[in-house]
Amino acid sequence: MNLDAIREQFEQRAFNYDGLIFRLIPRYREQHDVILHLIPSETNANIKVLDLGAGTGILSAVLLSAFPQAKVLAFDMAENMLKICQTNFSAFGERLTLQQGNFAEDDFGSGYDLVVSGLAIHHLDSAGKQELFHKLFHSMNPGGILLIRDIVTGATPRLTEQYEQLWRQYMKANGEDDAAWFQKYLEEDIPSSVEEQTKWLAEAGFADVGCHWRYLNFAIFGGVIPR
Ligand SMILES: C[S@@+](CC[C@H](N)C(=O)[O-])C[C@H]1O[C@@H](n2cnc3c(N)ncnc32)[C@H](O)[C@@H]1O
Repeated sequence: MNLDAIREQFEQRAFNYDGLIFRLIPRYREQHDVILHLIPSETNANIKVLDLGAGTGILSAVLLSAFPQAKVLAFDMAENMLKICQTNFSAFGERLTLQQGNFAEDDFGSGYDLVVSGLAIHHLDSAGKQELFHKLFHSMNPGGILLIRDIVTGATPRLTEQYEQLWRQYMKANGEDDAAWFQKYLEEDIPSSVEEQTKWLAEAGFADVGCHWRYLNFAIFGGVIPR
């Protein structure tokens, strides 16, 4: 599926995303706690943050709340997602800015102390992910932290299949049509393994690359820019 078709899917999903995501992604809230624990900055640090594929801004808001001096750029290709982000989080005022664009092609700025990306990078193929990791490396400050939470494959095809079955059971138990969602996943998503992606991050120049959390086919991983 091409990017325009994927964007159209997200334009439509924007309106019920905030409720839906908890029924589709296991331990979604727990992932936010892990991400916060992994950011060693002082709570009052004046950090510049990029949220790539920010959607309705759930992760941006978690960071803006935890770091009252932080400024976040919520970057996303779907206009409706950003409109909802703006409506839900206008209370953050100028600390939250929005930009519509495709992170694979468009400029998303530089000088970031922290980059987060939730459930978005898996729309790029292997070459696209590697290119993005290089672009991110050059957009971040020394000491900057990159944290990616995404859907991933297992280290072997058998593990991937096992994780995907368990993921479907999770969606079904929440009243979702797991067969329909799984079909969309097969059409829209191009997940890579944690093993591949951590290798690509190290190749792009990131240090302290690692996988910090994992549950089935969901993981939080990343690295830091050497000082
Ligand atoms: C599943 S939502 C994730 C929202 C939020 N980050 C979260 O963790 O819940 C994925 C978002 O990534 C955006 N996205 C996917 N590929 C993108 C790209 N190449 N450039 C910009 N945004 C992209 C979609 O528009 C969508 O809003």
